[in-house]
Amino acid sequence: MTVGRFPATRLRRNRRDDWTRRLVAETRLSVDDLIWPVFVAPGSGQTVEVASMPGVERISLDRLAAYVAPATALGIPMVALFPATPSELKDAEGTEAINPENLICQAARLLKREFPGLGLMGDVALDLYTTHGHDGVLRDGYVHNDDSVAVLVRQALAQAEAGIDVVGPSDMMDGRIGAIRTALDAAGMIDTRIMSYAAKYASTFYGPYREAVQSARLNGDKKTYQMDPANSQEALREVEQDLAEGADMVMVKPGMPYLDIVRRVHERFGIPTFAYQVSGEYAMIAAASDRGWLDRRRAMLESLLAFKRAGASGMLTYFALEAAQALRDD
Ligand code: PBG
Repeated sequence: MTVGRFPATRLRRNRRDDWTRRLVAETRLSVDDLIWPVFVAPGSGQTVEVASMPGVERISLDRLAAYVAPATALGIPMVALFPATPSELKDAEGTEAINPENLICQAARLLKREFPGLGLMGDVALDLYTTHGHDGVLRDGYVHNDDSVAVLVRQALAQAEAGIDVVGPSDMMDGRIGAIRTALDAAGMIDTRIMSYAAKYASTFYGPYREAVQSARLNGDKKTYQMDPANSQEALREVEQDLAEGADMVMVKPGMPYLDIVRRVHERFGIPTFAYQVSGEYAMIAAASDRGWLDRRRAMLESLLAFKRAGASGMLTYFALEAAQALRDD
């Protein structure tokens, strides 16, 4: 029997021509897969290049609608808002996070008015609002789980009231999904979705993001709440728990170094699973391309397609606008 064996079987036959390659392609990247994280600054007249993320900018509120317009025109389903909170508004408890007039709430109201059909995602965590840069509140130098959850719930409510459609708890406290779901339902916001940052690792690849949002210099590290990069069984437990508590979608973060986790979550649960191609992943591709070591467009598209192949429903990527343009022009 030579069936399935060389030379009767030549796997290169299907790769020979563009038309067969297109016919047998198993996965495809589309604009519908893209979530665009956008950095928002207060005030007006500001477009600031993020030095560690060439091609990414921080945009003041007055320019936000014009900045986001091309994304909606290209059909990007959702943007994720990350506010650069001025340091004078930060404190140890992250109080500004629950202010209904804070930057993200203002941005959400503005974008909802301007683009009612665009999905808006909000980051629920305290690191953008605290003087110590942690995602929760400190008690005796330790990030206190339940006290943090109490603030996160109020933060999620404020965002949802301002028009955020999908709250994205990125804090990794235990029990926050259930607490947020209960509070949203009690407030009548039964359709506000939760995309849980379910398997979020204590990663060095978040480095450039801290410059982008101008977060306070982190006191220590986040290893007591974010996951150990050594673990993958534990990621399944995190996802299982968040689903049981009411998460509508889950996320694996970072992306490319954790494709095995995306695959396992997708196979085990078969639920909407997203990957976050984080700032450091973007920076690697951008920096290598700037040096002429990588073809930016092709590296971008290949890295995004890999998420789909791994089983992701879609991905947060700083390349979203550029990728949508490239897909349109293809
Ligand atoms: C905050 C948060 C972080 C990122 C998204 N939300 C940083 C962190 O957890 O330290 C990182 C995003 C990126 O690197 O692109 N909880």
